[in-house]
Amino acid sequence: MRKKVIAGNWKMNMLPNETIHFIEELTPLVKDTQNEVILCVPYTDLFYALLTAQNTNIKIGAQNMHFEEEGAYTGEISGKMLKSIQVEYVILGHSERRQYFQETDEIINKKVKAAFQYELKPILCVGETLEEREAGTTEEVITKQTERALEGLSKEQVEKTIIAYEPIWAIGTGKTATKEEANNSIQAIRNKIAQNYGQTVADRVIIQYGGSIKSTNAKELFEMSDIDGGLVGGASLKADEFAKIIQYNKEG
Ligand code: PGA
Repeated sequence: MRKKVIAGNWKMNMLPNETIHFIEELTPLVKDTQNEVILCVPYTDLFYALLTAQNTNIKIGAQNMHFEEEGAYTGEISGKMLKSIQVEYVILGHSERRQYFQETDEIINKKVKAAFQYELKPILCVGETLEEREAGTTEEVITKQTERALEGLSKEQVEKTIIAYEPIWAIGTGKTATKEEANNSIQAIRNKIAQNYGQTVADRVIIQYGGSIKSTNAKELFEMSDIDGGLVGGASLKADEFAKIIQYNKEG
Protein backbone atom coordinates (compact mmCIF):
# COMPACT_ATOMS: atom_id res chain seq x y z
CA MET A 1 0.00 0.00 0.00
CA ARG A 2 1.37 3.38 -0.97
CA LYS A 3 1.23 6.22 1.52
CA LYS A 4 -0.66 9.45 0.84
CA VAL A 5 1.77 12.34 0.67
CA ILE A 6 0.37 15.86 0.90
CA ALA A 7 2.74 18.72 0.21
CA GLY A 8 2.12 22.45 0.36
CA ASN A 9 3.79 24.70 -2.18
CA TRP A 10 3.81 28.22 -0.80
CA LYS A 11 5.44 29.68 -3.93
CA MET A 12 6.56 33.31 -3.30
CA ASN A 13 4.40 33.86 -0.21
CA MET A 14 4.82 34.10 3.57
CA LEU A 15 7.37 35.85 5.79
CA PRO A 16 9.31 34.22 8.64
CA ASN A 17 6.89 35.37 11.37
CA GLU A 18 3.93 34.09 9.32
CA THR A 19 5.75 30.81 8.80
CA ILE A 20 6.27 30.28 12.52
CA HIS A 21 2.67 31.15 13.25
CA PHE A 22 1.37 28.87 10.48
CA ILE A 23 3.33 25.83 11.64
CA GLU A 24 2.30 26.40 15.26
CA GLU A 25 -1.32 26.47 14.11
CA LEU A 26 -1.00 23.46 11.78
CA THR A 27 0.86 21.17 14.20
CA PRO A 28 -2.03 20.19 16.53
CA LEU A 29 -4.44 19.88 13.59
CA VAL A 30 -2.39 17.20 11.82
CA LYS A 31 -0.45 15.48 14.59
CA ASP A 32 -2.58 12.32 14.45
CA THR A 33 -2.54 11.83 10.66
CA GLN A 34 -1.05 8.78 8.96
CA ASN A 35 -0.51 10.84 5.82
CA GLU A 36 2.86 12.39 5.14
CA VAL A 37 2.88 16.18 5.52
CA ILE A 38 5.40 18.37 3.70
CA LEU A 39 5.63 22.16 3.49
CA CYS A 40 7.74 23.65 0.71
CA VAL A 41 8.56 27.21 1.68
CA PRO A 42 10.61 30.10 0.27
CA TYR A 43 14.36 30.00 1.01
CA THR A 44 14.05 32.88 3.48
CA ASP A 45 11.55 30.88 5.55
CA LEU A 46 13.41 27.55 5.54
CA PHE A 47 15.39 28.02 8.71
CA TYR A 48 12.37 29.23 10.71
CA ALA A 49 10.20 26.46 9.30
CA LEU A 50 12.75 23.79 10.20
CA LEU A 51 13.09 25.08 13.76
CA THR A 52 9.34 25.40 14.32
CA ALA A 53 8.60 21.98 12.80
CA GLN A 54 11.16 20.18 14.96
CA ASN A 55 9.54 17.30 16.89
CA THR A 56 6.42 17.43 14.73
CA ASN A 57 5.31 15.24 11.80
CA ILE A 58 5.66 18.19 9.41
CA LYS A 59 8.58 17.85 6.97
CA ILE A 60 10.15 20.82 5.26
CA GLY A 61 11.12 21.29 1.63
CA ALA A 62 12.48 23.96 -0.70
CA GLN A 63 10.91 24.91 -4.04
CA ASN A 64 13.96 24.85 -6.29
CA MET A 65 17.75 24.48 -6.27
CA HIS A 66 20.70 24.75 -8.63
CA PHE A 67 22.32 21.59 -9.95
CA GLU A 68 25.88 22.69 -9.25
CA GLU A 69 27.31 22.24 -5.79
CA GLU A 70 28.82 25.74 -5.52
CA GLY A 71 30.39 28.45 -7.63
CA ALA A 72 29.76 31.66 -9.54
CA TYR A 73 25.98 31.45 -9.88
CA THR A 74 24.77 34.69 -8.34
CA GLY A 75 21.46 34.33 -6.58
CA GLU A 76 21.33 30.53 -6.67
CA ILE A 77 21.09 27.95 -3.86
CA SER A 78 22.61 24.47 -4.14
CA GLY A 79 21.52 21.05 -2.90
CA LYS A 80 24.55 21.02 -0.63
CA MET A 81 23.32 24.23 1.01
CA LEU A 82 19.81 22.87 1.50
CA LYS A 83 21.17 19.67 2.98
CA SER A 84 23.43 21.59 5.35
CA ILE A 85 20.39 23.01 7.19
CA GLN A 86 18.58 19.63 7.05
CA VAL A 87 16.00 20.36 4.42
CA GLU A 88 14.49 17.02 3.33
CA TYR A 89 12.55 17.72 0.13
CA VAL A 90 12.85 19.92 -2.92
CA ILE A 91 10.27 20.68 -5.62
CA LEU A 92 11.90 20.45 -9.05
CA GLY A 93 10.58 21.29 -12.50
CA HIS A 94 7.45 23.12 -11.38
CA SER A 95 5.64 24.47 -14.44
CA GLU A 96 6.21 28.03 -13.21
CA ARG A 97 9.96 27.34 -13.27
CA ARG A 98 9.67 25.82 -16.75
CA GLN A 99 7.57 28.74 -18.01
CA TYR A 100 9.14 31.81 -16.36
CA PHE A 101 12.71 30.64 -15.85
CA GLN A 102 13.21 28.58 -19.00
CA GLU A 103 13.90 25.32 -17.20
CA THR A 104 14.18 22.49 -19.70
CA ASP A 105 13.85 18.74 -19.16
CA GLU A 106 17.65 18.56 -19.36
CA ILE A 107 18.15 21.13 -16.59
CA ILE A 108 15.51 19.43 -14.47
CA ASN A 109 17.24 16.07 -14.97
CA LYS A 110 20.51 17.58 -13.68
CA LYS A 111 18.69 18.99 -10.68
CA VAL A 112 17.03 15.66 -9.86
CA LYS A 113 20.43 13.94 -9.98
CA ALA A 114 21.97 16.66 -7.80
CA ALA A 115 19.14 16.28 -5.29
CA PHE A 116 19.98 12.59 -4.85
CA GLN A 117 23.65 13.42 -4.54
CA TYR A 118 22.77 15.44 -1.42
CA GLU A 119 20.14 13.01 -0.15
CA LEU A 120 17.28 15.39 -0.79
CA LYS A 121 14.00 13.87 -1.92
CA PRO A 122 12.81 15.46 -5.14
CA ILE A 123 9.17 16.30 -5.84
CA LEU A 124 9.29 16.28 -9.62
CA CYS A 125 6.50 18.17 -11.38
CA VAL A 126 5.18 17.29 -14.82
CA GLY A 127 2.07 18.46 -16.66
CA GLU A 128 0.54 19.43 -19.96
CA THR A 129 -0.72 22.80 -21.21
CA LEU A 130 -4.34 23.32 -22.26
CA GLU A 131 -3.29 23.29 -25.94
CA GLU A 132 -1.52 19.96 -25.47
CA ARG A 133 -4.58 18.50 -23.75
CA GLU A 134 -6.89 19.73 -26.49
CA ALA A 135 -4.55 18.31 -29.14
CA GLY A 136 -4.82 14.91 -27.44
CA THR A 137 -1.11 14.76 -26.56
CA THR A 138 -1.38 14.77 -22.74
CA GLU A 139 -0.03 11.24 -22.22
CA GLU A 140 2.83 11.71 -24.62
CA VAL A 141 3.84 15.03 -23.05
CA ILE A 142 3.76 13.90 -19.44
CA THR A 143 5.42 10.54 -20.00
CA LYS A 144 8.23 12.20 -22.00
CA GLN A 145 8.75 14.83 -19.29
CA THR A 146 8.92 12.05 -16.70
CA GLU A 147 11.33 9.91 -18.72
CA ARG A 148 13.65 12.81 -19.44
CA ALA A 149 13.71 14.06 -15.86
CA LEU A 150 14.52 10.58 -14.53
CA GLU A 151 17.14 9.70 -17.14
CA GLY A 152 20.24 8.07 -15.66
CA LEU A 153 18.74 7.42 -12.22
CA SER A 154 18.86 3.99 -10.57
CA LYS A 155 15.68 2.04 -9.84
CA GLU A 156 16.11 2.84 -6.15
CA GLN A 157 16.29 6.55 -6.91
CA VAL A 158 13.24 6.46 -9.17
CA GLU A 159 11.31 4.71 -6.43
CA LYS A 160 12.22 7.49 -3.98
CA THR A 161 11.21 10.30 -6.33
CA ILE A 162 7.83 11.86 -5.65
CA ILE A 163 6.18 12.76 -8.94
CA ALA A 164 3.53 15.49 -9.00
CA TYR A 165 1.24 15.43 -12.00
CA GLU A 166 0.06 19.02 -12.38
CA PRO A 167 -1.90 19.93 -15.50
CA ILE A 168 -0.84 23.54 -16.15
CA TRP A 169 -4.39 24.65 -16.96
CA ALA A 170 -5.49 23.57 -13.48
CA ILE A 171 -2.82 25.47 -11.51
CA GLY A 172 -4.16 28.50 -9.68
CA THR A 173 -7.15 28.69 -12.01
CA GLY A 174 -9.81 27.09 -9.84
CA LYS A 175 -10.19 24.47 -12.59
CA THR A 176 -9.43 21.02 -11.25
CA ALA A 177 -8.91 18.02 -13.48
CA THR A 178 -11.74 15.57 -12.91
CA LYS A 179 -10.74 12.69 -10.70
CA GLU A 180 -10.85 10.40 -13.74
CA GLU A 181 -8.66 12.72 -15.85
CA ALA A 182 -6.14 12.99 -13.02
CA ASN A 183 -6.17 9.26 -12.35
CA ASN A 184 -5.76 8.39 -16.05
CA SER A 185 -2.77 10.68 -16.46
CA ILE A 186 -1.16 9.31 -13.33
CA GLN A 187 -1.74 5.76 -14.55
CA ALA A 188 -0.01 6.65 -17.81
CA ILE A 189 3.02 7.89 -15.86
CA ARG A 190 2.99 4.78 -13.68
CA ASN A 191 2.81 2.52 -16.74
CA LYS A 192 5.79 4.26 -18.29
CA ILE A 193 7.74 3.74 -15.07
CA ALA A 194 6.75 0.06 -15.08
CA GLN A 195 8.03 -0.21 -18.65
CA ASN A 196 11.36 1.48 -17.88
CA TYR A 197 12.08 0.39 -14.31
CA GLY A 198 9.85 -2.62 -13.63
CA GLN A 199 6.47 -3.19 -11.97
CA THR A 200 7.79 -3.16 -8.39
CA VAL A 201 9.17 0.36 -8.76
CA ALA A 202 5.95 1.49 -10.47
CA ASP A 203 3.84 0.02 -7.68
CA ARG A 204 5.86 1.85 -5.05
CA VAL A 205 6.52 5.26 -6.57
CA ILE A 206 4.39 8.08 -5.12
CA ILE A 207 2.53 10.09 -7.76
CA GLN A 208 0.55 13.09 -6.57
CA TYR A 209 -2.01 15.24 -8.30
CA GLY A 210 -1.74 19.05 -8.19
CA GLY A 211 -3.86 21.91 -9.47
CA SER A 212 -6.58 23.77 -7.53
CA ILE A 213 -6.87 21.19 -4.76
CA LYS A 214 -9.18 22.39 -1.97
CA SER A 215 -10.70 20.78 1.11
CA THR A 216 -13.89 20.28 -0.91
CA ASN A 217 -12.30 18.19 -3.68
CA ALA A 218 -9.34 16.53 -1.93
CA LYS A 219 -11.22 13.44 -0.79
CA GLU A 220 -12.61 12.42 -4.18
CA LEU A 221 -9.19 12.92 -5.80
CA PHE A 222 -7.13 11.17 -3.14
CA GLU A 223 -9.46 8.18 -3.07
CA MET A 224 -8.70 7.32 -6.68
CA SER A 225 -6.63 4.17 -7.24
CA ASP A 226 -3.45 5.84 -8.49
CA ILE A 227 -3.49 9.28 -6.85
CA ASP A 228 -1.15 9.20 -3.88
CA GLY A 229 -1.92 12.60 -2.40
CA GLY A 230 -1.39 16.09 -3.68
CA LEU A 231 0.78 19.13 -4.23
CA VAL A 232 -1.28 22.05 -2.95
CA GLY A 233 -0.62 25.69 -3.84
CA GLY A 234 -3.16 28.36 -2.87
CA ALA A 235 -5.02 26.20 -0.37
CA SER A 236 -1.80 25.49 1.56
CA LEU A 237 -1.54 29.12 2.68
CA LYS A 238 -4.26 28.81 5.34
CA ALA A 239 -3.47 26.37 8.13
CA ASP A 240 -7.07 25.27 8.76
CA GLU A 241 -7.80 24.70 5.06
CA PHE A 242 -4.51 22.85 4.52
CA ALA A 243 -5.20 20.74 7.61
CA LYS A 244 -8.60 19.72 6.21
CA ILE A 245 -6.91 18.58 2.99
CA ILE A 246 -4.34 16.58 4.95
CA GLN A 247 -7.10 15.09 7.12
CA TYR A 248 -9.35 14.27 4.13
CA ASN A 249 -9.71 10.69 5.40
CA LYS A 250 -10.24 11.45 9.08
CA GLU A 251 -13.36 9.84 10.52
CA GLY A 252 -16.05 12.07 12.00
P1 PGA B 1 -2.71 25.54 -6.87
O1 PGA B 1 -1.15 25.32 -7.20
O2 PGA B 1 -3.10 24.52 -5.84
O3 PGA B 1 -2.79 26.94 -6.36
O4 PGA B 1 -3.45 25.34 -8.16
C1 PGA B 1 -0.60 24.02 -7.25
C2 PGA B 1 0.87 24.11 -7.60
O5 PGA B 1 1.27 24.97 -8.40
O6 PGA B 1 1.68 23.31 -7.09
